[in-house]
Amino acid sequence: MKVVVIGVGQLGSDIVKSFEEEYEVIPLAHSDIEVSDYKSCEVLKGLKPDVVINTAAYHKTDECEDFPEKTFSVNALGARNIAKVCEEVGAVNIYISTDYVFDGEKDVPYSESDVPNPVNVYGVSKYAGEIFTRNISSRYYIFRVSSLFGVAGARGKGGNFVETMIKNAKNGVELKVVDDIVMSPTYTKDASMAMLKVLENELDYGTYHISNNGYCSWYEFAKAIFEITGMDASLKPITSDEYPTKARRPRNSSLSVEKLRKMGVEIRHWKSALRSYLEEKGHI
Ligand SMILES: NC(=O)c1ccc[n+]([C@@H]2O[C@H](COP(=O)([O-])OP(=O)(O)OC[C@H]3O[C@@H](n4cnc5c(N)ncnc54)[C@H](OP(=O)(O)O)[C@@H]3O)[C@@H](O)[C@H]2O)c1
Repeated sequence: MKVVVIGVGQLGSDIVKSFEEEYEVIPLAHSDIEVSDYKSCEVLKGLKPDVVINTAAYHKTDECEDFPEKTFSVNALGARNIAKVCEEVGAVNIYISTDYVFDGEKDVPYSESDVPNPVNVYGVSKYAGEIFTRNISSRYYIFRVSSLFGVAGARGKGGNFVETMIKNAKNGVELKVVDDIVMSPTYTKDASMAMLKVLENELDYGTYHISNNGYCSWYEFAKAIFEITGMDASLKPITSDEYPTKARRPRNSSLSVEKLRKMGVEIRHWKSALRSYLEEKGHI
């Protein structure tokens, strides 16, 4: 089976590593394909993939508020272009989506049957990407991931939360982290392995939440980083009112991975994943 991975950033690079164990993998960097340009997406035709995994995104959430056209052209129109070419070449289309499709008003983790209602430009554009994927693709998976941390760090965001916390703590910065926004931290290595299992086990096409198990606030996540590394950090919880951002954020965007678990794909707790990440990065 031939798998094309679009975007070799934080998640894409781990997908390439895990999928290479089983399949022929062709990674496409941004210099190889521009998803917002249909003509450029036609590069897929020559590659004749069985599966296309689209991790490309414009995802600086606050910046997206200022550049809605660019956000939609990459995240929504890009998804449409890829879906159309996948249909033409007969490939399974996999679109990587986000926990930010939800409004955060729910008090427990979101399941796949919950209705999206995004509250910022980025979230709306990714939800539009999901809709294009569903409406155009005869065979598709939408994998919603959240709060990623992986060795490569997000190219689009210039790193990840874990590295930012560690760097700032080393520099003696007093860290103030929001304690009233809850999410499911996700190790890209674990997410990639779960995606591989979905394909290997030929699970039903459709939408799946792929995050590490459990949830926490960003403050709790930061606290765990310093507990595991044993670093001495000055860390203080604050409310989101004390840290205003341009884009509204859902106060709860934690994801339930029950659907996957019932289908035989287990994902470990985020704390255990965080420890493995810190080991992989040489922080412990
Ligand atoms: N990071 C998170 O916490 C998070 C949370 C929820 C969902 N997600 C979703 O997960 C996916 C992967 O995130 P990530 O953290 O791995 O991001 P990343 O490290 O920024 O990787 C994205 C990759 O896509 C490429 N790319 C960007 N725009 C493109 C375009 N127009 N055409 C073709 N390639 C393009 C980037 O290349 P260049 O850097 O060279 O432009 C980069 O290699 C995204 O779909 C994102 O929406 C991420």
